[in-house]
Amino acid sequence: MNAIEVHGVKKNFGKLAVLKGIDLTVAQGEIFTLLGENGAGKSTLINILATLSKADGGEVRVLGLDPVRDGNKVRELISLNAQETTFDEEFTGSDNLRLIAQLRGIPNAAATIADVTARLDLGSFLARKVKTYSGGMKRRLDLAMSLLGKPKLIFLDEPTTGVDPKNRLALWQLIREIRDAGTTVFLTTQYLDEADALSDHIAFIKDGVIVKNGTPAEIKRRLTTTYTLQAADGQGARARQALTAGGVAFADKADALSLDEANAARGLEVLTVDGITVAHYNRDEADLESVFLAVNGME
Ligand SMILES: Nc1ncnc2c1ncn2[C@@H]1O[C@H](COP(=O)(O)OP(=O)(O)OP(=O)(O)O)[C@@H](O)[C@H]1O
Ligand SMILES: [Mg+2]
Repeated sequence: MNAIEVHGVKKNFGKLAVLKGIDLTVAQGEIFTLLGENGAGKSTLINILATLSKADGGEVRVLGLDPVRDGNKVRELISLNAQETTFDEEFTGSDNLRLIAQLRGIPNAAATIADVTARLDLGSFLARKVKTYSGGMKRRLDLAMSLLGKPKLIFLDEPTTGVDPKNRLALWQLIREIRDAGTTVFLTTQYLDEADALSDHIAFIKDGVIVKNGTPAEIKRRLTTTYTLQAADGQGARARQALTAGGVAFADKADALSLDEANAARGLEVLTVDGITVAHYNRDEADLESVFLAVNGME
């Protein structure tokens, strides 16, 4: 059984069609990351999966259950770390944690709370009222609350937004530990290095549908459409002349030349015919940021 199965899911807000037929599968025990521009519909999809909102069409299974028909069961098994944190700000961090532990009927509440607060390094501000917390402190408290009760599936909607670099790395480690302990993680983030570092699978949402998905390596490989070519020492100028004369488009790139997919093979041919030695010829490795920009039509 997959942790999540979504087929043809649609969601409209009035006349605005936000999700227009989403298809995706999340395997159990993986970190799955959904990427997309602001307003692409990431949180909308999370709300549907987490039983907070109903799809207008399509099929949804969360841990084998229908979030509409079996809402209570789904809520027992999942945890949602929403984009907007919600606490009782007049209470302390400890009070908020105890309240959640009680609501969820967690056995050994005190020990569980101690464990999770130590892992998130919350000790120093747990006794203060939440209204005195910084944005990053609130995010960490919110994450601690989501982790109570060992959910089978956890939704983390931009969990590291506003968190400083040191704590961000600590959260990455924690998210990996959550996955390694058997919890499926459904993540969204605006940080592409984070998606690259953490995800087992990534999907891009654009114009209401999933436009790309795969492992980070697969996605980066598929986008790679440029080649770097370097002529042997002293032959750089001749190589440029030969390409120009042969009508092969290229761009200068430090001491090498960059050719796109349409020009790469022809470029090699032209240089070879002209007796120029090609010292290096590589397909470039894209980073996720270029994938994101390409998906969103910025490149
Ligand atoms: N309750 C609502 N009523 C009306 N429109 C909504 C509602 N919730 C979301 N929307 C709209 O749906 C679209 C998708 O919003 P959503 O919050 O899912 O985007 P997102 O991908 O999570 O963006 P972000 O990266 O900014 O968090 C936006 O155009 C938003 O304005
Ligand atoms: Mg969102």
